[in-house]
Amino acid sequence: MDIKLETLLARISDFNSLKDAYGASHLPIYQTATFDLKKQTGDRIYDYSRTDNPTRNALEDIFTKAENGDGCTCTNTGIASIALLFDSVVKAGDSIIVEKDCYGGTFRILNILKENHAINVEFADFCDLNAVEEILKKKNIKLLLCESPTNPGLKIIDLAAVSVLCKKYGTLFAVDNSMATFASQKPLDLGADFSIFSATKYVSGHGSVISGAVVTKEEKWTKAVKFYSNAGGRAQSPFECFLVSLGLPTLTYRLKAHEASATKIAEYLSKRNDVLHISFPKLKSHPQYELANKQMKICPGLITLDMTTVEKAHKFVNNTKLFGEKASFGCSDSRVEMPAKISHASYSEEDLKAIGISKSTLRLSIGLEDTDDLINDIDSALE
Ligand SMILES: Cc1ncc(COP(=O)(O)O)c(C=O)c1O
Repeated sequence: MDIKLETLLARISDFNSLKDAYGASHLPIYQTATFDLKKQTGDRIYDYSRTDNPTRNALEDIFTKAENGDGCTCTNTGIASIALLFDSVVKAGDSIIVEKDCYGGTFRILNILKENHAINVEFADFCDLNAVEEILKKKNIKLLLCESPTNPGLKIIDLAAVSVLCKKYGTLFAVDNSMATFASQKPLDLGADFSIFSATKYVSGHGSVISGAVVTKEEKWTKAVKFYSNAGGRAQSPFECFLVSLGLPTLTYRLKAHEASATKIAEYLSKRNDVLHISFPKLKSHPQYELANKQMKICPGLITLDMTTVEKAHKFVNNTKLFGEKASFGCSDSRVEMPAKISHASYSEEDLKAIGISKSTLRLSIGLEDTDDLINDIDSALE
């Protein structure tokens, strides 16, 4: 049956491999470490939950369908999905290229790859495709990785154009789809080989679980990722897969509400004299406004801004009542964070400067509160 994403997500118990004998309306939790081989008659045989588990497999089926992939492996954190990608694809002596505006945790793993595993890591601004091509031309690059929108700069990378370059030079292409999610953009349809994401954010949406996934386009990589997940113990527990699944039926609708509220707040902030610079892909002033509209069906609710002074940035953080000073994004509650202090604390001052982050940079994740309440809160905090 040909169904749209929203139907798939609203009926996850109907559209996965776990044919529950009782017709459970929601994903049953198989909270067990082992299975008795002598008692199984189904087509899929289970032995140990680190390798495979019916609840996890059901969630993986949904993500595979949602991303139009060949297969998926759910991991116990979003960062584990990135580590698993590297485990599966790169070996000592390989080179990889990464968009320089990337999540701080990714940057930390890249340093480990360089220092402990003899992997050469190149960084580039992926908005400059000529610069990317120069690197691909000169070096034998095994894997290219980027986020879009990037975190925290909110740059939009032209995924279809990058994939053309990767194909030309025989480079594998992975996209971290944590921010936009498969409800907004499908990297595999745009030519990527891997779509990985932290489900901790919008996908689960309730801030109740840390979770991730690697979705693969080709069977060869599906098998490799499963092998390394089992070998390295990266898989997500059944109960946490269940928690992630609770957010799926509302994903598209939540994202649309985040987008609508963030758009109004970005417009409001862009008119304030104490805001020096603002990045939000739905604002016409964003350098990739048109690409953002073409590539993403819905814009996630993150706004990155530079206040005119560090004092103003602290005022925002300390005086707002509806913005928790918290890491992560994509939950129902609004958040403010200083990337230099939280999400990008693994960057040196010099590295932060290279991606345009200063001590007056703030990243907002707009939640699902009433928009006017949020605007009034910012207004009073900055008085
Ligand atoms: C873009 C991006 N990718 C990956 C991660 C890592 O995910 P997790 O925190 O679920 O391990 C994060 C976390 O903030 C992120 O922002």
